[in-house]
Amino acid sequence: MEYSFDKSYSWLVTGAAGFIGSNLLEHLLKLNQKVIGLDNFATGHQHNLDEVQSLVTPDQWSRFTFIEGDIRNQADCVKACEGVDYVLHQAALGSVPRSINDPITTNAANITGFLNVLVAARDASVKSFTYAASSSTYGDHPALPKVEENIGKPLSPYAVTKYVNELYADVFASTYGFKTIGLRYFNVFGKRQDPNGAYAAVIPKWTAAMVSGEDVFINGDGETSRDFCFIENAVQANLLAAMADDAAKNEVYNVAVGDRTTLNILFDSLKEALAENGVVYNKQPVYRDFRPGDVRHSQADIGKAATKLGYTPEYRIAEGIAKAMPWYLDHKG
Ligand SMILES: NC(=O)c1ccc[n+]([C@@H]2O[C@H](COP(=O)([O-])OP(=O)(O)OC[C@H]3O[C@@H](n4cnc5c(N)ncnc54)[C@H](O)[C@@H]3O)[C@@H](O)[C@H]2O)c1
Repeated sequence: MEYSFDKSYSWLVTGAAGFIGSNLLEHLLKLNQKVIGLDNFATGHQHNLDEVQSLVTPDQWSRFTFIEGDIRNQADCVKACEGVDYVLHQAALGSVPRSINDPITTNAANITGFLNVLVAARDASVKSFTYAASSSTYGDHPALPKVEENIGKPLSPYAVTKYVNELYADVFASTYGFKTIGLRYFNVFGKRQDPNGAYAAVIPKWTAAMVSGEDVFINGDGETSRDFCFIENAVQANLLAAMADDAAKNEVYNVAVGDRTTLNILFDSLKEALAENGVVYNKQPVYRDFRPGDVRHSQADIGKAATKLGYTPEYRIAEGIAKAMPWYLDHKG
């Protein structure tokens, strides 16, 4: 999908040094927009920003202002929102296991931090506020595919924080007339997603393991399923949400493809994609215990985002993996 803007607006991308934030940054700069990035490098990296710099023109890069700051600090949020038209709030501590190991730190970034950014954006009278919600909010609700209004009980502290974001967003609409859009991402993947560390997401983690000939661990029987969403689809959803009219606001939307892929199938797909790039992985996966807090199956109904935002995901999982694979191979550390 091609986007264009009638002028150079000012965007705040929180979490700009992270995976999704740096991809939003790259797209916005390529569209000649002004971007303020706020990040404390908790899980983001300077090398992500450097890579974006290498992919845009010097003139486009000159439209970027980076604030190294913390969303837990209200003053940093106020500073970051000055003169901003559109907010894309991505900063948070991801990962279910991280939140189980350290719920206090996750809570501080994801709830206090969220509220700080929300208040600062409201006070700066921004044109729109779009935030990263999560499919984890569906919790233990068994129905598939997931429709926005039917959620269950959260299964992890992380899921609680993402649900609280939605509750705050709703109350800010009714109390202050400040309307937002929440995007419930479903397992987003693509370039600049961190393959390292205990809390890495499955696709970059497995790909890195396969490239270096290490074991790949599957938590559970491998029949756990996810609706993997290529980053370009998530970028599209953000740009559509930011520019959406009032009727589409004060809502949450699933951002995914509408497919369901088991971990066993994902393992084979990554192996095949690597083989197409000349990397052969011969090992069998190593099965181990299910991970606490994980939802068993996940698949989105994307009808609401399609109807109200005009969202049309352009990449299914195989296309996304094919597009991301050269990047993984170039960044094998
Ligand atoms: N990647 C996914 O599949 C997925 C799925 C559902 C929801 N989300 C949400 O999308 C958003 C972006 O996730 P991501 O995958 O890009 O993760 P990421 O870890 O790559 O990016 C998050 C960024 O936020 C920054 N950050 C964290 N705490 C901060 C703080 N206190 N102050 C300032 N910056 C802070 C980190 O340094 C990092 O750069 C998060 O809100 C996450 O919860 C992601």
